[in-house]
Amino acid sequence: MFGRVKPLDAILATAEKKSLHRSLGAVQLTLLGVGAIIGTGIFVLTSEAAQKAGPGMMWAFVIAALVCGVAALCYSEIASMVPVSGSAYTYTYAVMGELLAWMVGWALILEYAVAASAVSVGWSGYFVGLLHSWGIDLPLAVTVGPYAGGFVNLPALVIALLVTVLLMVGTTESARVNAVLVAIKVTALTVFIALTIPVIKGANFEPFMPNGWFGNGQGAGLGAVGAAASIFFAYVGFDAVSTAAEETKDPQRNVPIGLIGSLAICTVFYLLVAAGAIGAIGAQPVSGPHGEILAPGTSMLAEQCKTLTAAGAEPLVCSREALAHVLRSIGWERVGDLIGVAAFLALPSVILIMLFGQTRIFFVMARDGLLPEKLASIHPKWKTPHIVTMITGAAVSLFAAFLPVGQLADISNSGTLFAFFMVAIAVLILRRTQPNRKRPFRTPLVWVVAPLAALGCLGLFFNLPFESKMVLPVWGGIGLVVYFAYGYRKSHVGRGLVEVHEGDSDVPPQPVPPID
Ligand code: ALA
Repeated sequence: MFGRVKPLDAILATAEKKSLHRSLGAVQLTLLGVGAIIGTGIFVLTSEAAQKAGPGMMWAFVIAALVCGVAALCYSEIASMVPVSGSAYTYTYAVMGELLAWMVGWALILEYAVAASAVSVGWSGYFVGLLHSWGIDLPLAVTVGPYAGGFVNLPALVIALLVTVLLMVGTTESARVNAVLVAIKVTALTVFIALTIPVIKGANFEPFMPNGWFGNGQGAGLGAVGAAASIFFAYVGFDAVSTAAEETKDPQRNVPIGLIGSLAICTVFYLLVAAGAIGAIGAQPVSGPHGEILAPGTSMLAEQCKTLTAAGAEPLVCSREALAHVLRSIGWERVGDLIGVAAFLALPSVILIMLFGQTRIFFVMARDGLLPEKLASIHPKWKTPHIVTMITGAAVSLFAAFLPVGQLADISNSGTLFAFFMVAIAVLILRRTQPNRKRPFRTPLVWVVAPLAALGCLGLFFNLPFESKMVLPVWGGIGLVVYFAYGYRKSHVGRGLVEVHEGDSDVPPQPVPPID
């Protein structure tokens, strides 16, 4: 299984045969990255990060950005070298063999599908808040899951299903729509910064680290580093740029610019937004009756928040629409509503990108024979992999309906961190095994940067809350069973089938060329 390596040359030959039109430049790639990155992380999880770290969440944003930065440098090398779809899964197949590739692909399913659920729940918070500001109050039972005293998060369920249907009938987000949505998101964040930074109060940053770096011994996942493991979610999505490497003009220059550029732009925005939110209304965590730290997404915290909100003092950490809440609290009611509208409009596109990424990974794995090809079959009229989209969409909606946003983001992070870790290792292995292969982009100081990326991913993973950390091994265990029950025997590489596909090989699920 480890020996079942898909030769790099075969993968590259595939890409060359396909020769997609190289049309994307540095600006479009950067916009693609920013479009995939800015979402629930900054709009919603800012509250959760504050609950874990207080104002120290500034550090969380910095730590997560640094880990993503070194990971992006590794991605840049491998994406410009192996510019084909399938991302970390394909790279691992070429470098570390089938079993590990399968595990990475399996983890990427976790990353993308659960991220789609998390963004759906984030969207729901803004939607409910927007309705509230228009005088419509939906009952708690249908707006949050059981974790917060409700029953089902109906808006999250509905938006996830709607996006699934759009994907099934063949909606792809055009570059132009993406550019408009990026403009909306960036404008919203800019307005937020412009209105909050002038009213910052130094006192709101005190105490800066109420929960220390690691939660003062009160459990994993708390403190500034715990918050970093969660807020990592806010940066996820830049890897979307690497999947477009094949369609990029001069990928040697433009892919790294797109990856690092989108990450850098978002980091600057995030730090300013976090500073503005903390400075404007404070970000101290809410503690339990005995002064204990309460984890986000727990019913204990929901109870405390209910009491505080009823008393007319809703703190940042209790809000499910953090940024709108901050602006409303400092007297910009209507602008807060507009931020809500921006999130309402723009977050569904992040759900779409995540779900789309998931179907793409699934498609590539099925094409390699590791999953039943039938599942990835293309609908005759819609030209989309409707079956896998439907199954994924159903799972995504169910998770969104019943789980809290922070927990979903943490679970998604566990899969992403595993994939990033493997990419960092793959870069090092390739430097050793294939030193002479053409590398359009070389990671600078690779023997420092790649180990830092790998260690950073491990460090963040171990600082996730216990349950989220455990999801990865459990999911991985299920993956192993599926592999040995199916993929091991059916694998195209294992069965010696030619792995250089013709024409359609690396075409993503859609658009698929019409078959006459
Ligand atoms: N980074 C994306 C978000 O924050 C996934 O929603």
